Amino acid sequence: MSEENVLKENIREAAYHLKVKLEGRVPEVGIILGSGLGPLAEQVEDAVFVPFAEIPHMKTSTATGHVGRFVCGTLGGKCVLVMQGRLHGYEGNTPQEVAFPVWVMHEIGIPTLITTNAAGAINETYAVGDFCIMSDHINFTGRNPVVGTEPNGIAFRFFSMKDAYDPELRALAQNAADELDVPVHEGVYLGLLGPSFETPAEIRAFKSWGADTVAMSVCEEVIAARHVGMRVLGMSLCSNMACGIEGASPSDEEVFEVAKRREPDFCRLVTRIVQDM
Ligand code: HPA
Repeated sequence: MSEENVLKENIREAAYHLKVKLEGRVPEVGIILGSGLGPLAEQVEDAVFVPFAEIPHMKTSTATGHVGRFVCGTLGGKCVLVMQGRLHGYEGNTPQEVAFPVWVMHEIGIPTLITTNAAGAINETYAVGDFCIMSDHINFTGRNPVVGTEPNGIAFRFFSMKDAYDPELRALAQNAADELDVPVHEGVYLGLLGPSFETPAEIRAFKSWGADTVAMSVCEEVIAARHVGMRVLGMSLCSNMACGIEGASPSDEEVFEVAKRREPDFCRLVTRIVQDM
């Protein structure tokens, strides 16, 4: 079998196994939880838990705080499939391994993806602890999960990335935040491979390109989702100021500390967004 068809077959097989484990639940929204944001999964009601390791062809999470399981159940009155932990490129995963669970979500019929992360704030008008709805991204990972998926791939190779972050979902998220009185920004996210944090010179360059936030995930997932026509909402928690901004020198400890502090608002906000969808 050609490599593209192996990928297609692997997605189908993984989707079949996952579907069986969901015991009749039919998720409408997929949610990927970033660093320190995993506790939202504990608010999912009537939940089943499926470790990534139980799904054929899926890699498992090795990053701190990324549990590495699917949680399926009810949140905000809707059936959701949550990834409590994600797969990063910096863990040694290929772009297609990072994208794989997104394609599996699509294969089981999920039309909408909410992807979240902890990010460094480049925009100096942002503060640590603020939320930012992604309006667009700059994929600076140097990677793309769709490379090598054609011919006879899972979808057509060329597709537009205009409005990749769905304008209606962005408006809905902004509305939900306003109603809850949780201030949010809207900005351009820049994704890198990591795992080293950026240098101050890199952050100055990214600022001049129009980036507002920076982190080590999301872009490959969003490219994969748009490849198969899923609607996407992206949201960051600004867990730190980016390197060199106001003298900042980011650390993993700060990321988790801020995520813990902002967890209640993050959970309220995402739950409300799902409810309003
Ligand atoms: N840079 C890259 N990734 C990150 C950051 C950052 O400042 N904060 C959280 N994830």
